[in-house]
Amino acid sequence: RVYTIASIPGDGIGVEVTPAAERVLEATQKRFGFRLDVEAVDYASCDYYTKHGRMMPEDWKKRLEGKDALLFGAVGWPDTVPDHISLWGSLVQFRREFDQYVSLRPVRLMPGVRSPLADRVHGDIDFVVVRENTEGEYSQVGGRMFAGTDRETVLQETVLTRTGTDRILRYAFELANGRPRKHLTSATKSNGIAISMPYWDERVEAMAQHYPEVSWNKFHIDNLAAQFVLNPSQFDVVVGSNLFGDILSDLGPACTGTIGIAPSGNIDPERRFPSLFEPVHGSAPDIAGKGIANPIGAIWAASMMLDHLGESDAAAAIMRAVETSLSDERSRTRDLGGKADCAGCADAVIDALNAA
Ligand code: NAI
Ligand code: MG
Repeated sequence: RVYTIASIPGDGIGVEVTPAAERVLEATQKRFGFRLDVEAVDYASCDYYTKHGRMMPEDWKKRLEGKDALLFGAVGWPDTVPDHISLWGSLVQFRREFDQYVSLRPVRLMPGVRSPLADRVHGDIDFVVVRENTEGEYSQVGGRMFAGTDRETVLQETVLTRTGTDRILRYAFELANGRPRKHLTSATKSNGIAISMPYWDERVEAMAQHYPEVSWNKFHIDNLAAQFVLNPSQFDVVVGSNLFGDILSDLGPACTGTIGIAPSGNIDPERRFPSLFEPVHGSAPDIAGKGIANPIGAIWAASMMLDHLGESDAAAAIMRAVETSLSDERSRTRDLGGKADCAGCADAVIDALNAA
């Protein structure tokens, strides 16, 4: 099997961690009998913007839409390009144009990583946050009236469509159904947001009928955020609207330690378009160019990409190798109290892969 991939490193440490992840991918191909045909992409970066006055070429969609997946680093170099321009000119375009309506963030306590909750947590932390990625609170519907006067009024609507709500819930229930614990938690706020959130709850209930094996519950978002910190072991799959999911998908990884290891998928489950896999972190200008960035977030994202492509054995092998290398202080990067540099950390993962 051959898969076509676009590798889009972007800016800052994106340029360091993406090649590290590519090297790990290369090491798996030989073992698992598939091939990745990787095209290196230099646009969707602030360098490209500086040269061309835009983040991507006009025909970017044509160039990328036939790919099987996109491996993304990070975008942003605030010294030269304002963040809203770099982000909206690249990543947001991919999410919207490729209808990547699922944002997927695994949250797992890894060996060698100290959770800020370490003294509190009893039991495993191993859950997934599923965020609706295309509608909800992040709508363009609204406006500002009487600007600059005492009567200034600002309005922004939440948009929930049945199609948009059901497709994210179906994805979340399917995911829960395929996991050993088969449990789903829905984020709501139907006590306060009394029109859209009761609708969300209603659709959760309707979808649950199709998944009798999956147990489910719901929390108001304020309490749910507290539960993430107080008792994260209770979760398996957590699903939320665009805004609630956004907050939870940062809070989740924060509960398990460093931002350097957290991965993320922006997924079109129907596979009409390529899905995009990236580390959660940004371009980290403060450490860029030093070769010390933690590549585990990018490597984990690469594993999610293989899973999406159907190469689940290779994906699992990468995660076992990541756990092996994280267990050894010598192969951890500085953000985890180790001494390894970016390349050394990736080497350790590859060694663990080859030794398994
Ligand atoms: P950031 O994630 O780049 O950095 C936050 C802090 O975490 C920094 O101290 C950084 O050194 C550290 N850090 C991040 N990743 C690390 C890694 N792999 N290993 C070790 N340490 C790591 O977030 P920040 O500073 O808010 O944003 C910097 C730029 O990145 C901005 O231009 C922002 O717009 C962009 N950004 C892009 C994202 C994306 O492409 N998905 C996501 C978040 C930010
Ligand atoms: Mg966020």
